Amino acid sequence: MFAGEVQNNKLHLIGKLTASLIHEIRNPLSAIKLNLDLIKMEDSLSSDVLESVDDCLSATNRIEYMIDNLLSFARVVTNGCEHFCLNKITLNAIDLLAVKANKYGIYIETQFEKNIVHIYADKNKLLQILLNLITNAIESYENNVKGKIVIKTILSEENETQKIHWIIQDNGVGISESNQSRIFEDFYTSKENGTGLGLSVCKMLADEQGAEIDFESKLGYGTTFKVTFDVNKMRKLYEATHISY
Ligand SMILES: Nc1ncnc2c1ncn2[C@@H]1O[C@H](COP(=O)(O)OP(=O)(O)OP(=O)(O)O)[C@@H](O)[C@H]1O
Ligand SMILES: [Mg+2]
Repeated sequence: MFAGEVQNNKLHLIGKLTASLIHEIRNPLSAIKLNLDLIKMEDSLSSDVLESVDDCLSATNRIEYMIDNLLSFARVVTNGCEHFCLNKITLNAIDLLAVKANKYGIYIETQFEKNIVHIYADKNKLLQILLNLITNAIESYENNVKGKIVIKTILSEENETQKIHWIIQDNGVGISESNQSRIFEDFYTSKENGTGLGLSVCKMLADEQGAEIDFESKLGYGTTFKVTFDVNKMRKLYEATHISY
C-alpha cells in the first residue's frame, strides 16, 4: 500500500506537469489555427497551397484532439472521502519517508493532539500533501546537518469554529523573503533536481479538500508549514454527501 501511495503522488505530479504543458501548448496551437484559417481566406491561393493549408489544419486539429484526451486522462479524478485519523496517516507518511530521513540524518518527532479522532476528507490526497511537505522539510537541511523535523496536530476553537492544524516544522535553510512569494508557483524550484511542482500540487489538493496551507519562514532559521481544516466545513461536506431521504 505504501509503495502505491508514493506512486500516486508521482502520478499527481505527472498530472500537474502534463496539465501545465498542455496549457502552454494550447496557446501557440490556437494561434497557428487562426493564421491557417486566415491564409485559407485568401483568394489567390493555388489548389496545391490550399491543399497544404488544409493538411496543416487537420494536423493541428489532431494535436488538439490528442492533448484534450491527455488532459482528461491526467486530470485528478479520485474523490474518496472517508473518516480517518489524521494522527495515523501522519505516522504512515513518516514510515514512507523513513529511509530518506535516515539518509539525511534527520529525526522526525511527533506531537499529537489526543482529542483529534477522525476527520472526513480524501485520505490519499492528504497523505500526498504531507509527503510533499515532509520531503521539502528533509531537503531543507544541508548535507550532513543532523536536523529535526517536528510534526504536530492541534485542535483549536475560536468563535465556536473548530479548526484542526497540521504543522510541519523544520530548522533547515529557510526561505528568503524575496522567494517566499514564489514557492507555490508551478515549476519554481531552488533545487538542482527539483520539478518545482510539489507545493503547487499541495495547494491544489488542499483547495479540493477545503483546507488552507500557509507558512512562515526565516532564512537561516527554518520553515513552518501549516495545513488548516475547518471542522464545520468538513462536517457540511460530509452531510452533503451522506443525505438520506
Ligand atoms: N521546508 C522548506 N524549507 C526551505 N525551502 C523550502 C521548503 N519548502 C519549500 N521550499 C522552497 O520552495 C521551493 C518549491 O518547493 P516545491 O516542493 O514546489 O518544489 P521542489 O521541492 O523544488 O521540487 P519537487 O517538485 O521535487 O517537490 C523549493 O525548491 C524550495 O526553494
Ligand atoms: Mg518539493
